[in-house]
Formats: sequence, structure tokens, C-alpha cells
Amino acid sequence: MNRNISLYEAIGGSETVRLLVESFYPKVQAHPLLGPLFPQNIDPVIEKQYLFLTQFFGGPSLFSDQYGHPMMRARHLPFPITPERAEAWLDCMRRALQEVGLDEQLQAIVLDRLSGPAHHFVNTSEEET
Ligand code: HEM
Repeated sequence: MNRNISLYEAIGGSETVRLLVESFYPKVQAHPLLGPLFPQNIDPVIEKQYLFLTQFFGGPSLFSDQYGHPMMRARHLPFPITPERAEAWLDCMRRALQEVGLDEQLQAIVLDRLSGPAHHFVNTSEEET
């Protein structure tokens, strides 16, 4: 990856982030461990994730501009996130990245960047669910 540009620019900016979230959430909804945590109307979640990932990958700070400091771990506390669910989330993202057809090296970089936060959001052990 060209080190002078952000990951956001490297993956193709707004258009790619849009395709990614639209490919990702149907997989999340269909996943037996993840689907039940999400509302039936997934559109507002897709929109927030679009704003967040834009910012997270180094694009404009769309999420913070609308919702303030992300505090993503805190925002996830109402939901029982087990290690298994973190892996399931990352697996849906891996499949979405493939579906969008991103360059393989970039797919690996994106997954790696998301893997830290996903595990950091774990707040429940499997025995508690
Ligand atoms: C580890 C597994 C994860 C699970 C099970 C999970 C689950 C959820 C759930 C249930 C919601 C709330 C949906 C709603 O009712 O509005 C949510 C919101 C959200 N998640 Fe996750 N999530 C995970 C990881 C991540 C990661 C790694 C990121 C990004 C780095 C992320 C970003 C977001 C964003 C931006 C929102 C919207 C927050 C808001 O409402 O302000 N999530 N997530």
C-alpha cells in the first residue's frame, strides 16, 4: 500500500465503504449468533457503520461530526459480546471484503485493523450466554 495515502483512499473511498457495509449487514443478519442482537430495520445501523468506518479508515470524521466521540466499546456494552461473536463479526467482514472484490493485500489490512477493536469489545464470556 502507498504509505502516503490513508487506508480510506487506498480502498477506494466513499464508494467502497458504502459497498462494504451493504454487503456486510445481510451476512450479520443471517448469522445465528449475530442476527438476534440487531434490529429488524438494519438501515440506520448500516448508515452509522458507514459514517464510522469512513472515519476509522482515515477518511472524513463523519461519525464524530454527528454523534460525538465514538466510545465504541461503551456503545457495545448493552450487547453481550462473546469471543465467539467477535470472531463471527470478523468472519462476516472477511466475506464482505471478498464480495466487494478488494485487492487481497488490502483485505488483509482492513481485517487486521478491525480485529483489535472486535476483540476489545468482548464484554461477556461464552458461559454467560
Ligand atoms: C465484536 C463483535 C460485534 C458485535 C457483536 C457488534 C454488535 C453491535 C450491535 C448489536 C450494535 C447495535 C445495533 C443497534 O441496535 O443499533 C452495534 C452498533 C455498532 N457497531 Fe458493532 N458489533 C461488533 C463489533 C464492531 C466493530 C469491530 C465495530 C467497528 C470497529 C463496530 C461498529 C459499530 C458501530 C459504528 C455501531 C453503531 C453505534 C451507534 O449506535 O452509535 N462494531 N454493534
